[in-house]
Amino acid sequence: MTAVEDIKSKLDIVSYIGRTVSLKKAGRVYKACCPFHSEKTPSFVVNPEYQSWRCFGACAEGGDIFKFAMKQNGWTFREAVEELGRLAGVEVRPPTPEQKAQDESHERLRGMVASAADFYHERLFDASDRGAQETLAYARVKRALNEDTLRRFQIGYAPPGWQNLTSFLLQLGYSDNDLVLGGLSIRGDDGRLHDRFRNRLMIPIRDGRGRPVGFGARALVPDEQPKYLNSPQSPLFDKSRLLFGLDSASRAIRDAETVVIVEGYLDAIQARQAGYDNVVAQMGTALTETQLKLVAPRMARKVIMALDSDPAGQNATRRSLEVAREALRADFGGKLGVEFRVLTVPDGKDPDDFIRAHPADWPALVENAVPVAEFVIGLETADLGDKATFAEKEAVARRLLPLLTASESDLLRQDNLQKLAMRLRTINETQLLGWAAQEAASAPKSAPLAAPPPLPPDDYPPEPDDFWYGDDLPPAAPAGIPASPALRELARLEAHLLKALYDQPELVYAINRRFREMAGLDTLLLGGPLCDLCADDFTRASHQVFLALLHDALLQDERAFQQFMNEQLQALPEVSGEIDQALRDEITALEPRLTHGLRVDLPLVVRQQERMGGSIDVREDAVRSALRLREERIERERIELQFVFDDLAAPEQEAWNLRAGLTIRAKRLIDSQFVRPESAFGARAAGFQNVRTQDDQ
Ligand code: UTP
Ligand code: MN
Repeated sequence: MTAVEDIKSKLDIVSYIGRTVSLKKAGRVYKACCPFHSEKTPSFVVNPEYQSWRCFGACAEGGDIFKFAMKQNGWTFREAVEELGRLAGVEVRPPTPEQKAQDESHERLRGMVASAADFYHERLFDASDRGAQETLAYARVKRALNEDTLRRFQIGYAPPGWQNLTSFLLQLGYSDNDLVLGGLSIRGDDGRLHDRFRNRLMIPIRDGRGRPVGFGARALVPDEQPKYLNSPQSPLFDKSRLLFGLDSASRAIRDAETVVIVEGYLDAIQARQAGYDNVVAQMGTALTETQLKLVAPRMARKVIMALDSDPAGQNATRRSLEVAREALRADFGGKLGVEFRVLTVPDGKDPDDFIRAHPADWPALVENAVPVAEFVIGLETADLGDKATFAEKEAVARRLLPLLTASESDLLRQDNLQKLAMRLRTINETQLLGWAAQEAASAPKSAPLAAPPPLPPDDYPPEPDDFWYGDDLPPAAPAGIPASPALRELARLEAHLLKALYDQPELVYAINRRFREMAGLDTLLLGGPLCDLCADDFTRASHQVFLALLHDALLQDERAFQQFMNEQLQALPEVSGEIDQALRDEITALEPRLTHGLRVDLPLVVRQQERMGGSIDVREDAVRSALRLREERIERERIELQFVFDDLAAPEQEAWNLRAGLTIRAKRLIDSQFVRPESAFGARAAGFQNVRTQDDQ
């Protein structure tokens, strides 16, 4: 039994939810007004038989005990497992001795950084220190930060001396080594430690759980370089995995399903002071996919990058343009399946200046953010006057096309081409497609799904502690259902998909994209039967755990994907045993298809075959497996809901009927995916030669 199952078997969902929600028995279920939205008639149902809950009202959401705890407390899956594990007296993933030692060391370092943040914060309010007084005035007057903001963000002051923090921390019992590891002190040439941050305004930077892990330190002396001195990369402080302010912004980001990413710490702080809570800041480096994955798509479906405008007159937009081009090239929108927009602050200002001058106008600025492709097209074609010749337009188009077709998403590519055609007027999409194909052919070949280069082995290992689980439910295999041949077949299909995902985890994006493309703009479908692939799509608990780990693995950049998965699975022997078996069975099942005694190294051969077959085929195969699993899941849930139906009052039955309608639409959409020679034909006609139909194989 896995820890997750163990916890479920020990905690009854009715009594757990009953601790905070007053439940009334109604037939075989319990009902209440939904704790997650306000309502007068109860549409929240807890079903003891399935140990599940569901809101038939505005939330239209449901799940098991973990999902409930996550939603109620804003916990990640991992946190929910830990907390409920504590409650149930189940030890979650017993750590190895090394892990334990590392956890303890990190815990100590975090405690030290927190003490440092307290120290700097107190110094800022030291009335006997003139430097502190001046800095406080700078923060209040020059930066317009109010008391509440200074406290909330724990803004601090590092005095100019060399030993202030160092001696304070040594007195607290931290070792020289701790101080250096935590990035707070530097060992000088004479071997002695001194403070890293001197005479600076201190801005603590917190991790996703709100623990201080480092600092951004702004110079107080004009023209002092660097303007911002940041904590160095360390086991605790990893810029590529942090977004400033995210810990306190996540709720607002989820509510708005939108995140606004500004460039500077003080831009974010100013926005928050003005009440715009879904704003976070970059870490002084270009945005990485890892950072984006912290927020999208798990919290936000819309990412808005707010770019400073440089002083008017200078090549103002060049830098913004470069950033936007980079976002297109990296295909952030396509890969994460989110809308990616660009906001430029007018008049040579940054968000900080702008919000201070026009606090009420920020929402309009956010509202008018432009889709990244549109932004790039607009700027790149700005010099084309009304009388531009065909040749001039062609030159611009050819320059833009590689970027506009860089996305993996058919929809995005089409949309981008349409936008360009509209802008260039006399040139149509077919013409553009022709040029795009030529540009692609002449471009230097690069591997499309190339993995990022592995990090050197001595780079900081990730902390299991910090990984975010996806929001996906870890879910109960419906109890008491015997393993019928149909269920076994299903398990085999699940294993088939898991293997594909294990080999090429990026496939999960292709799968989610397909769901989203099918749902189109229908948010009910998107939030319901056509949501992203998640643990619920699998029937076996071990497969469900695998999927949760997969989401974790994709959220980290520190280790190779498979290494990460293997390490995590090692800690879950029951699960890994079963998965091992599933993956092995999957390979054995392929064996008869391999001819000519190629069975020397089966896994390798299988992988090669798949790669040679072209990624589109592997992708399409994975997508189809996922579609089948989803279809099965929809059917399962329909049956489950029927149990509840009779006990529901009329309005809830109405809601159920609505869901049933949605389910039927989703099912029809899924079915339509399995007969689609014309769409492949259409894609070919449109110049995408590598799309195949099933019949081609
Ligand atoms: P800016 O220089 O645009 O900062 O750097 P800003 O926030 O407008 O600064 P103020 O208003 O003059 O105080 C934006 C971000 O780039 C990083 C920091 O994260 C900063 O918030 N940065 C900038 C550095 O890391 N080092 C630097 O020397 C400068
Ligand atoms: Mn600024």
